Amino acid sequence: MNLYMKYCFLLLFSLFIFCESKYGFVTWSNGNAIVSVTDNYSEIPKVHVAKATYSNEINNTGWAFLELHTSADSSDEKQAYAAGFLEGYLTRDLIWMHWQNMLKGYCYNKTEVCGLIEDFVDKNEDYIASMVTANPTDPYWYQMKLYYIQIEGLAVGYNHATSDPYEWLTVRDLM
Ligand SMILES: *[C@@H]1O[C@H](CO)[C@@H](O)[C@H](O)[C@H]1NC(C)=O
Ligand SMILES: *[C@@H]1O[C@H](CO)[C@@H](O)[C@H](O)[C@H]1NC(C)=O
Ligand SMILES: *[C@@H]1O[C@H](CO)[C@@H](O)[C@H](O)[C@H]1NC(C)=O
Repeated sequence: MNLYMKYCFLLLFSLFIFCESKYGFVTWSNGNAIVSVTDNYSEIPKVHVAKATYSNEINNTGWAFLELHTSADSSDEKQAYAAGFLEGYLTRDLIWMHWQNMLKGYCYNKTEVCGLIEDFVDKNEDYIASMVTANPTDPYWYQMKLYYIQIEGLAVGYNHATSDPYEWLTVRDLM
């Protein structure tokens, strides 16, 4: 009896977890990333730039899980952008919670130190942009370029999933 109840509990628990998963995918149309979300894995089209499984199990296990794949049939730039876009779109709530917990309000009444941080980030971005332009075939700087494209996708995907303008974040905020 005890074992049976335990088994039932485990079964219910895994069914619950199973139901919490959702799938997202990005396709490309007229130069735009189009994002879709479904509960049914079979609905992910064969031709996609990125696809992901997302399940927020923080209330059960303390963790949220994101598994994301991109398609080598698309250009590297599109794969990087779509990977960021899909992550930002699917994990919007967690990004906003993290922002609220860690960063929102950090710069209130700290104009001096925050000005220094902004200067540092500006200079760093200019440096990276100049190195990316000067070394188009270098594998390191090529990867850097893709990384920045991914962050840009992350911001756009996050904002795409965010209806309240008060919660919009810039690429710089995500940096
Ligand atoms: C999932 O999608 C596939 C393909 O569109 C469809 O054949 C199947 O019936 C769907 N399954 C459920 C449970 O809705
Ligand atoms: C986790 O629990 C909180 C508090 O009950 C609830 O507001 C939140 O929607 C839950 N999150 C998920 C992903 O189920
Ligand atoms: C910022 O400084 C002003 C003036 O000293 C003060 O009135 C205000 O409460 C401060 N705001 C925060 C969020 O600390």
